[in-house]
This record gives sequence, C-alpha cells and structure tokens, in this order.
Amino acid sequence: MGKVIAISNHKGGVGKTTSAINFGAGLAKSKKKVLLIDFDAQTNLTQSLDINNTSCDIYSLLKGECEAKPINLFKNFHVIPAVSALSAAEIELASEAGREYILIEAIEDIRDNYDYIIIDCPPSLGLLTINAFTAADEVLIPMQAEYLALQGIGKLLGLVEKIKKRLNKNLKISGIFITQFDKRKVLNRYVYETIESHFGKKVYDTKIRSNVALAEAPNSGLDIFRYQKNSNGADDYFKFTKEYLKREKALNS
Ligand SMILES: Nc1ncnc2c1ncn2[C@@H]1O[C@H](COP(=O)(O)OP(=O)(O)OP(=O)(O)O)[C@@H](O)[C@H]1O
Ligand SMILES: [Mg+2]
Repeated sequence: MGKVIAISNHKGGVGKTTSAINFGAGLAKSKKKVLLIDFDAQTNLTQSLDINNTSCDIYSLLKGECEAKPINLFKNFHVIPAVSALSAAEIELASEAGREYILIEAIEDIRDNYDYIIIDCPPSLGLLTINAFTAADEVLIPMQAEYLALQGIGKLLGLVEKIKKRLNKNLKISGIFITQFDKRKVLNRYVYETIESHFGKKVYDTKIRSNVALAEAPNSGLDIFRYQKNSNGADDYFKFTKEYLKREKALNS
C-alpha cells in the first residue's frame, strides 16, 4: 500500500509546495510511483506544474462528485490538482459525519497504485490538514532557518499528537528539513544548530539551499530536474530524496 506523506508547516512560505514537487520528482526519478495531491486552495502546486485539466480536482473528489483520476504528467509522476473553491471545503465539510476521514476514503481505491502519495498541505491547521494527517503515515516538516522558525511549531506537534491519539495511531513525524538555506548567513547557521539541538536525529542532514532555479521553475511549469538538472536545487532535492530512502530502509531493516 502506498505510503502517504503529508508535507506540513502552518507557517507560510517555508517551502512546502516546492518540496512536494521536487521531492516527489526525486522519488519518480528513483523509479518510485508517485502521486502528488494539491491540498491547498492557493493551488500553487497545480499552477507550478501548469495543470489546466481540473476535471477531477481534489475539491470535487472530497465532495464525492467524481472518482479519483490523477493526471499523469510524466513517467511515475501523477497529480490530483486543486481549484480555489477548495477554500470552501473547511466550512462545507465541517458538518459531515466522519469529517476527518473524507480524504482517506477518497483515495482508498487508488492508494495501491503508488509507492508514495505526497500531500501538499495548506499553511493552516484546519480541517484539511486534519484530513491529511488522518490519511497520512508520516508528516514531513520543512522549516526555514530563520528567526522565529520554531515559534508555533509546538502547535503543529500538538496536532500530530492529538491525531495520533484520536484518529490515526500509526501517524509519525518522519523528519524536519531545512529549506532556503544560506550558509553565509550567521543567523541561518545559528538557527539550524538550535533546530538540531531541539529535534536531534529527526533533522535531515541535507539542507535545501536557496537557489534561484527553484523559484524560477514554476514559471515554466516544471520540476527542478526537468527545468535545470545541473542546479544546486536539483542536487539538493535529489540528495534529500536519497537520504529519505536511506532512512526509510534503515527503519525497515
Ligand atoms: N530553496 C529555495 N530557494 C529559493 N527560493 C525558494 C526555495 N524554496 C522555495 N522558494 C520560493 O519561496 C516561495 C515560497 O515557497 P513555497 O511556495 O514552496 O512555500 P509554501 O510553504 O508552500 O508556501 P505556502 O505556505 O504559501 O503554501 C516561493 O516563491 C518559492 O519559489
Ligand atoms: Mg504551498
């Protein structure tokens, strides 16, 4: 059964969408079958991959208006896009019975078709994120090594604990990784050390450096490996993917 990974941090702009796309593309490059789910009404992931076909988007799927039909972008790389109407879901689905289980149910039939299903969560801890955590095996947390990066992270960890206790006992935090890192910045190095001393082995060795190609790629509708395969961004996300797979193998052996 496909492993579901929720990429989440309720802080905005920390690299959730960039990581969902490029970690996903890194896994596809490693011959894994990948499904990305855009779970944010900002639809950044959908737009960054230049997807215009939204015939069965995640909002329609949650509402039971279509059957899951992911879009095949390239080999091993499928996407369920979002539409901005998804912003209404938090309120519309709030009164449904079993409202936390709507996503897990919606992807049940296609879960076996993939090795990894990556959910790009919104920058909030509302019903959509709760649905993502209920469906997920793991939560992966991107963080910027900036002042206040750790502020509010207790809330996210608290939600993971609650979901574990009440809705999904197998949920775990698979790790924290640093994005938009600039080793020339003393503050970046200092905050990285603080994060490492806080979370120890949960922090990935691979840091995603600040790299302009990562910010440009969405303009071409491409992941970093197809946009600029020789960039630092491509190197970092591939290194991160390899570290993820190595850690996973170590845990399973
Ligand atoms: N390593 C990087 N180097 C340079 N720019 C980056 C990097 N990672 C992300 N960015 C840029 O930073 C901005 C925020 O990134 P992204 O959209 O991935 O964050 P997010 O956490 O998904 O944001 P939101 O909370 O709004 O969903 C984007 O413009 C993106 O292109
Ligand atoms: Mg995003």
